[in-house]
Amino acid sequence: MLTFAPVKDDEMKQLIVEFSKHLRDAVQICKATSVRTNGNFKNVVITGLGGSGIGGTIAAELLRNSAPVPIFVNKDYHLPAFVDEHTLLIASSYSGNTEETLAALEAAMARGATCAAITSGGRLLEIAKEKSLDHVVLPGGNPPRSMLGFSLTALLFLLGKYGIDQVGWFYKIEGAADLLDEQKQSLRNEAKELARYLEGKMPVIYAVDGYEGVAVRFRQQINENGKMLCWHAVIPEMNHNELVGWVGALGKEAVVFLRNKDDYERNQMRIQVNKDIISRKTGQMKDVWSRGENRLERMLYHIHLGDWCSLYLSELSGVDVMEVKVIDHLKSALGNA
Ligand code: F6R
Repeated sequence: MLTFAPVKDDEMKQLIVEFSKHLRDAVQICKATSVRTNGNFKNVVITGLGGSGIGGTIAAELLRNSAPVPIFVNKDYHLPAFVDEHTLLIASSYSGNTEETLAALEAAMARGATCAAITSGGRLLEIAKEKSLDHVVLPGGNPPRSMLGFSLTALLFLLGKYGIDQVGWFYKIEGAADLLDEQKQSLRNEAKELARYLEGKMPVIYAVDGYEGVAVRFRQQINENGKMLCWHAVIPEMNHNELVGWVGALGKEAVVFLRNKDDYERNQMRIQVNKDIISRKTGQMKDVWSRGENRLERMLYHIHLGDWCSLYLSELSGVDVMEVKVIDHLKSALGNA
């Protein structure tokens, strides 16, 4: 029977405990932030990496069916050719010093795009102040991945202010925080069970299109907190390639289907057929259903569940949940803070 080791480092646990508080605090920070609201943009780019980039992927999916203009999520130094003076670019970097994000911002400013920033400090905050860019300042001093509640809220706030989010997702954040509080105990129990199921295996996270950001977040938290390899793919796309790859399964895979009650019915049918096929290679398959009355609530439910699961995985295997030395090493090898 696997046991959960006493937490060596309670800091990450506390940050996960406070996720719903982060969401509410972020709403207050945003309400106290003034931004220019006279945008009339032809397209939007959200640029950021890792824990600061994932909010962009999630926001773009959330707004996919309602945004009046395309939203492109950028995770590189370079920008797509369409970026010009009609573009809104939001640069998200918690440290404010991620070189890819800073390079993309500089390029966007050079092309005359309207730029805004989400950060806790660093060079990004300096640029935002120097150039009088709209910016939301997040509380500093924590691992960027643990601040998603803040960075995602700030993104939805800016997108609302600029008329890109016409649903008003920002105003639904507090309702989602309430749901997470209501579900607190059962969500943690479910995460613990999931961690026991995934421990020592190769987690494979599947979600339907439109919820890929959540699957990516799940994977990245397992990578960074749990210090484990993990992969994700999306249905229906993976039905046209990856499903064939199951022929070569190694037997260590443990599959998680992140499911939502609004998943398109044809994709739900696909999941059923996928299970039949995958079951020839592994009996390790699990459905994890979200809860919530809207897409944001369902996304945040799965995100929070994944955060807890990654923490429990770190406890099960006795690794330090906080450290990401290889990322720090890479940044310093490249001369970044
Ligand atoms: C570390 C983490 C990383 C960083 C990434 C970019 O907790 O999650 O993925 O988010 O290295 O750094 P920032 O967020 O400072 O731009």
